[in-house]
Amino acid sequence: MSHQLAISKDASKAEIYDEILPQIEAVIEGEDNLIANLANIAAILHEAFGNLWTGFYVNDDGKTLVLGPFQGPLACTRIPFSPIPRGVCGASAAQQKTFIVPDVDKFEGHIACSSASRSEIVVPLVVDGTTKLVLDIDSLELNSFDEVDARCLERMLDHVKSKHFG
Ligand code: SME
Repeated sequence: MSHQLAISKDASKAEIYDEILPQIEAVIEGEDNLIANLANIAAILHEAFGNLWTGFYVNDDGKTLVLGPFQGPLACTRIPFSPIPRGVCGASAAQQKTFIVPDVDKFEGHIACSSASRSEIVVPLVVDGTTKLVLDIDSLELNSFDEVDARCLERMLDHVKSKHFG
């Protein structure tokens, strides 16, 4: 099946999410493999917003996140989250909450996979108290992410959760 992403020109961030979330749902509707769906979600979010890096880290062994499907430059492969969390991804996986980081230089312990990254959002997918994976998006600009991103990305991951961990 082929899919062409439809995004209106000059749309606001909220409008872009309104357009792509149903498309993401449609894409994952027809595929039961988690990795394939995470790969397409990373591709859609990356194409829609043009950030520096868009991708997933998945819970490897209950202590470490390992690099999953992503779009963007080469990234670090392993990030510990228990017992001592590292970076924004580790903190999000450990505390099981969304982190919006307006300026990565002001986040103690931020892992600079790319020195070009200026701000970041990380959203966890938690099932029965266990963090299964996190979505990480890095931007070239300061203050790129806000509550609109948090709400829409959490809604999108809820959909992944019901499809793959329901
Ligand atoms: N900056 C992240 C690490 C992952 S990369 O940026 C792709 C962090 O601090 O957890």
